[in-house]
Amino acid sequence: MESQHISMVIISVTACVLGLLLNKYINSTKCEDCDENWITLDIKGLEEDFTNKLFGQHIASEVIIKALKGSSSNPNSQKPLTMSLHGYSGTGKNFVSRLIAQNLYRKGLDSKYVHVFVSTLHFPHVQFIDKYQSNLQKWIHGNVSQCARSMFIFDEMDKMHPGLINAIKPFLDYSSDVDKVDYRKAIFIFLSNTGGDKISEFTLNVLMNGKERESIKLSQLEEELSSTVFNKSNSGFWQTALIQSNLIDHFIPFLPLEFKHVESCVRAEIASRGKRISESIVTTIASSMVYYPEEKLLSQKGCKTVASKVNLYF
Ligand SMILES: *[C@@H]1O[C@H](CO)[C@@H](O)[C@H](O)[C@H]1NC(C)=O
Ligand SMILES: *[C@@H]1O[C@H](CO)[C@@H](O)[C@H](O)[C@H]1NC(C)=O
Repeated sequence: MESQHISMVIISVTACVLGLLLNKYINSTKCEDCDENWITLDIKGLEEDFTNKLFGQHIASEVIIKALKGSSSNPNSQKPLTMSLHGYSGTGKNFVSRLIAQNLYRKGLDSKYVHVFVSTLHFPHVQFIDKYQSNLQKWIHGNVSQCARSMFIFDEMDKMHPGLINAIKPFLDYSSDVDKVDYRKAIFIFLSNTGGDKISEFTLNVLMNGKERESIKLSQLEEELSSTVFNKSNSGFWQTALIQSNLIDHFIPFLPLEFKHVESCVRAEIASRGKRISESIVTTIASSMVYYPEEKLLSQKGCKTVASKVNLYF
């Protein structure tokens, strides 16, 4: 009698756990909808991620948080939120895009409402530009019609064909109800190396003068860039397009990283694999990167190759 009772309890507990698991499984595979259940900005989560996982980017962290807060709290926004992320590769532009996606869409980058385009990958052949152009316009139109809170990430903007940039432009403008579709809740993020040299030069100067990178203000870099980079006669089409300031709400510079930031990246990478952090390995890996100039103040590739270097040790 006693044992029967115990087995009944065990069965019902098991059933309950199974039910929970099943429920969780159904939830995670359930179709994603364009509503608050699936799309909600977790600004606190994003702030925490920036603090714990993004290194050396005090300007980017601040501007992005403000921009997202501002646009989500302004129901009368007149245009989509457009941000252009600039800097050398390995400084965190792609990483930041992923963190934004993760703190806005429950499915992060896997959300069907997040669209990532890489110029050289998705639009590689010049002879098909017309086709790419009409596809891209159809897709942006189609996707925003289905979900106003869609996000589009364009990587390698500096390598993008002018025809494609022109195809995107109309969507970024004040477009209350072009073709009956409301683009104002959409988010466009552009990534490029444009201005990277200037940002690097400026950062180096600050460090050489014994000042902290945190003393650099957005306004200084903006000024620097607008007077030089964006004014070169041989500048790329993306740079020229950027001058039309109404297209881009926020210009976001990513500073080149120092040794200590690379070390932080290594630690984060090791921790994310659930391994124990050994400071000697951290230093060894960070030291194996290439730094510039002679004084070796800044990392050439930022944290770009950290993951593959960590592979060698674990
Ligand atoms: C949405 O965009 C994707 C590309 O990211 C495209 O394949 C798809 O056809 C688009 N959907 C609509 C409805 O246009
Ligand atoms: C851009 O360059 C032109 C010619 O070199 C110069 O006259 C103009 O002042 C520059 N613009 C800015 C914003 O510096």
